Amino acid sequence: MTENIYAPHLVTIEKIRNEAEGVKTFTLTFKDPVERESFNYRPGQFGEVTVFGAGEAPISITSSPVNKGYFELSVAGVGKVTQALHLKREGDIIGFRGPYGNGFPFDEVKSNDILFVAGGIGLAPLRSLINQMFSERNKFGKISILYGARYPALLCFRDDISRWAELKNSEVLLTVDTAPDNGWQNNIGVVGSLLPKINMNIENTTAFVCGPPIMIHFIILDLLKLGFKKDRIITTMERRMECGLGKCGHCNIGEKYVCLDGPVFSYQQLEELGENI
Ligand SMILES: Cc1cc2nc3c(=O)[nH]c(=O)nc-3n(C[C@H](O)[C@H](O)[C@H](O)COP(=O)(O)OP(=O)(O)OC[C@H]3O[C@@H](n4cnc5c(N)ncnc54)[C@H](O)[C@@H]3O)c2cc1C
Ligand code: FES
Repeated sequence: MTENIYAPHLVTIEKIRNEAEGVKTFTLTFKDPVERESFNYRPGQFGEVTVFGAGEAPISITSSPVNKGYFELSVAGVGKVTQALHLKREGDIIGFRGPYGNGFPFDEVKSNDILFVAGGIGLAPLRSLINQMFSERNKFGKISILYGARYPALLCFRDDISRWAELKNSEVLLTVDTAPDNGWQNNIGVVGSLLPKINMNIENTTAFVCGPPIMIHFIILDLLKLGFKKDRIITTMERRMECGLGKCGHCNIGEKYVCLDGPVFSYQQLEELGENI
């Protein structure tokens, strides 16, 4: 019998963490020990998550592939599937198929300085890459991480952020659009306002940008103004997806499918595909 490529694999929710307002992080393990051991992925790849009775949604893998035996997803509860997932408890079973998509360049940017610019839950796919890069710290130059959210309660991955800030030759700057709770001692303003605060050797830097479309739009304009080459600006595209496998035709940009050829693209590729971002 041929395998049904749309059939979800069963995974157990081992742990649920409240990551930020409206965002939960799920630690998952495959029920089948063979699948658990063999599961491998690249940062930037995603999977289709099934909540039985509610449907499927594409979600990026936020854990680093260095961590074996389990993986993590961070999910904002915005609609039918994601809110049904937020109602699940530790020990419950959900479905997962993947990994899908191309993932971020890794070996290709070794020896580069790296700039990460993220907004809100956009840090989820980048967290996977950042943690993988820090596990091979001596292969990369300076790592700068600029992260913003609308207000402090929306900032994700605070434990990782504190750890990253302590690591050698790295820099982490945080900002929020507004800080109503007075306890905020950090920057205020959009994440692009952090760019002038860091020293960069632009010739040798690759930028990874992830967040809401409007943020990506303005950050790319800022980076181009600073002199970044178009092929050194890497971002991820979100599209409504169904199959995740390049079969249904729901997610195309020009002749490419975001689920198959993306979701990671350089700005140069997006421009060549006629994508107006
Ligand atoms: C490759 C990829 C990776 C993603 N990674 C993550 C992740 O790591 N964490 C996370 O929380 N979300 C992620 N998303 C977004 C997530 O897939 C959607 O929020 C989810 O599909 C919404 O499903 P739902 O049934 O809960 O919402 P629905 O009931 O379908 O919709 C709720 C609202 O969200 C809007 N919406 C739904 N899907 C999208 C979308 N793809 N883009 C923009 N708006 C949408 C709808 O228009 C509606 O306003 C990713 C999406 C893609 C394509
Ligand atoms: S989601 Fe079906 S082709 Fe991309």
